[in-house]
Amino acid sequence: MGRCPDCGGWNTLIEETVTPTASTSTKSQPRQTATGNQVRPQRMNAVTATKERRITTNLQELNRVLGGGIVPGSLILIGGDPGIGKSTLLLQVSGQLAAKHGTVLYVSGEESASQIKLRADRLGMADSGMYLYPETDMPAIRQAIDDMHPDFVVIDSVQTMNVPDMNSAVGSVSQIREVTSELMRIAKSQGITIFVVGHVTKEGAIAGPKMLEHMVDTVLYFEGDMHHTYRILRSVKNRFGSTNEIGIFEMHSDGLQEVSNPSEIFLEERMQGATGSAVVVSMEGTRPILVEIQALITPTLFGNAKRTSSGVDRNKASLIMAVLEKRADVMLQNQDAYLKATGGVRLDEPAIDLAIAMAIVSSYRDVEIPATDAFVGEIGLTGEVRRVNRIEDRVKEAAKLGFKRIFVPRNNLHGWDVPHDIDVVGVTSVSEALQRVF
Ligand code: TYD
Ligand code: MG
Repeated sequence: MGRCPDCGGWNTLIEETVTPTASTSTKSQPRQTATGNQVRPQRMNAVTATKERRITTNLQELNRVLGGGIVPGSLILIGGDPGIGKSTLLLQVSGQLAAKHGTVLYVSGEESASQIKLRADRLGMADSGMYLYPETDMPAIRQAIDDMHPDFVVIDSVQTMNVPDMNSAVGSVSQIREVTSELMRIAKSQGITIFVVGHVTKEGAIAGPKMLEHMVDTVLYFEGDMHHTYRILRSVKNRFGSTNEIGIFEMHSDGLQEVSNPSEIFLEERMQGATGSAVVVSMEGTRPILVEIQALITPTLFGNAKRTSSGVDRNKASLIMAVLEKRADVMLQNQDAYLKATGGVRLDEPAIDLAIAMAIVSSYRDVEIPATDAFVGEIGLTGEVRRVNRIEDRVKEAAKLGFKRIFVPRNNLHGWDVPHDIDVVGVTSVSEALQRVF
């Protein structure tokens, strides 16, 4: 069928061949874990749990995204657009791991050994002790792992690997699933840490079955604007740490470098005295980051008013503009609006609402907001400013970067020590915030 009868999408059906496996005949046997041990029900208090060991790389940003370092024996999937830097990141990490923490086998189905070597030269790690293995055949890879007993394996990428005794094409759903479960078995039974690169589809999800993400321990996405040098490593699943943690890197001619003070960089190019600019303190995982939100409001010349945004959700922008119109008498219906979060970041938490509203009104009225003001708060449909999480961390970060005044939801003012080096202003509604700023 060309069209999915369920969702109505065209050309979305993918052929999957079902291969009977031997396991169907052994149904009556007790289940085995991936490590080959038999499982039995156990009382919780009889289970012994040891705290997992962590291997810390020299890249602090990566350690944080992983929840404090690499857990030995884990399977880590890294997805991202082509050319974003997945191979570069893993090559750098492999070099460090090989130098300090054990044997590394770097399996590449995409580049030859000499190509990888050339890149390693540029990264300044040409005489690293890691092993390169350009191969796509899974049995050969398994054999190499059995022979070498490496501590770390990199598979670049899962879509190029091939299990020959399956009669479906390389990169197909069933191939990817088979390759991943094979890697999972290797990781768990031999305690080898495996990094797997996964390509992403046009929609931005890792290509292959969604099950792929369920199977592995950790899923990281490497993203960023191709035209910016910043790259963001985001954790969307982590069995060993919190998700929504981000790590920020910058692509240089000699590889990826960490950005440990992102707020300063995101605010670096802020223009003095410009209208339509407001700064928000957004939480990215456990870390507050200050980002400038820019708005440009211009009269609509003909047709419907345009609303365009990058880095913030367009629907969110429309909603905030509707609230401003209805609850704060800012007439925006015949205005085009362009919104942008600077630095190529994507913000999607509710706490950025107030800063968006402020940037919009600032541009509309052509009145600047003091450069030392910051904003935090969610806006509700009745125009109220709603409480946000982790207010203390946000206010401290703003104070640390020299902001003099921060607007926060009034309900957020209790239960923590308000610092003295910054003026913390509680507001209950968006119109109150407008009155105090403009
Ligand atoms: P790469 O790691 O090959 O991307 P992926 O594996 O995600 O497809 O990244 C390649 C891009 O990064 C390439 O366009 C060139 C750029 N790059 C640098 O700017 N500096 C460097 O030192 C390296 C190795 C790559
Ligand atoms: Mg690559």
